[in-house]
Amino acid sequence: IDGTLPTISHPQTEAFLLEAAKIIRDTDQTVAFPTETVYGLGGSALNDEAVKNIYKAKNRPSDNPLITHVSSINQLNRKIFNRDTKVHMQNIPEIYHPLIEKLWPGPLTILLPIPPSEKNSLSKLTTANQPTFAVRIPSNPVARALIALSDTPIAAPSANASTRPSPTLASHVYHDLNSRIPLILDGGACKVGVESTVVDGLVDPPMLLRPGGFTYEDIIKLGGPKWANCKVEHRKNVTANEKVRTPGMKYKHYSPSAKVLLMLPDEKKVNKLDSFGQIFQRELTKDSTERNEAPKKIAILTTRYLDALQPDLLKEFNNEIEYIVQSLGHRGEDIQANLFAALRKVDEIDKVDLIFVEGINEEDEGLAVMNRLEKAAAGNYILF
Ligand code: TXA
Ligand code: MG
Repeated sequence: IDGTLPTISHPQTEAFLLEAAKIIRDTDQTVAFPTETVYGLGGSALNDEAVKNIYKAKNRPSDNPLITHVSSINQLNRKIFNRDTKVHMQNIPEIYHPLIEKLWPGPLTILLPIPPSEKNSLSKLTTANQPTFAVRIPSNPVARALIALSDTPIAAPSANASTRPSPTLASHVYHDLNSRIPLILDGGACKVGVESTVVDGLVDPPMLLRPGGFTYEDIIKLGGPKWANCKVEHRKNVTANEKVRTPGMKYKHYSPSAKVLLMLPDEKKVNKLDSFGQIFQRELTKDSTERNEAPKKIAILTTRYLDALQPDLLKEFNNEIEYIVQSLGHRGEDIQANLFAALRKVDEIDKVDLIFVEGINEEDEGLAVMNRLEKAAAGNYILF
């Protein structure tokens, strides 16, 4: 079906993949599967009932559209445009060609015009009344094998319960969706760790709608001259009724149960640890008042200056609290790969009352990381 696929050499892996592929192809049910970015919750993008089941399992608002995953351009043409395979890239606007040639398969999602209904088999429910549909070819071999074996385009949002951090391990999916879906394919940890980059090349200038696995710098560098003036969808607090270009933007997202405080390094402050200490004590008092209870456990996720804060040092502020200090890594790629798993671990396993996270610069991977952290922190930013 798809000559570019890796061969499957393990018999049990093959059996599990065939089982999952059968669910996608022949039923209205959903399957969770790994991609290189985060785990997805997939169902046939050609089947309204399967798409409804995706929204239901995640408890996702129905006006937030889904990304359709295909295993090849060939499959996109055959299954979505109902065209034969010779047309190759003819159904895709030229502006996307350089990006597709360099970045697919991989964490890049593009928006395409929805073809007229006689030339298109995509369930209308995947697009939630948008004039476009979102599509990508993932690079994770399990994801691509699943899509190719079912020979069905798969609609898949991230496999978290709505509002929660995206899952980067099968255990995260199990935590959120256990008993709501029939099967999770466990492919280990997702390498990229944040979702795909969503771009819109149908507007002038082209837009980066969601920073993700490929950086803004990658898009500018690899997209050719038309992407040189690509704009980043500016952050704004969108109200519930406002029409937005990326409907996902208006919803609460990436939120642990514990309150998240995003600590932003202030270049003007020389002694970051002293400054953090003062803020820390102030926030402890504030949190105790808010929750009517003193915090018992606190996590501090560090990227740079706060690495030096060891639990012993923190005991000097308050020795009745248990502290978890965990580095997210120092390089953008590592911070990105560790981010959701670290938020989930301190929230769901350690069950801390408060999470401090040290922010990073918004260049390269920093843009996607800070986009997720700003949502997780829901406005709780503090300079230190
Ligand atoms: O990496 C990823 O993209 C993962 C994996 C599973 O592939 N999927 C993912 O899906 O992150 P989801 O549903 O969690 O996020 C899709 C984002 C949402 O913000 C949605 O609003 C936006 O893409 N989106 C989807 N279709 C769109 C469209 N036609 N126009 C504008 N935004 C769209
Ligand atoms: Mg999501």
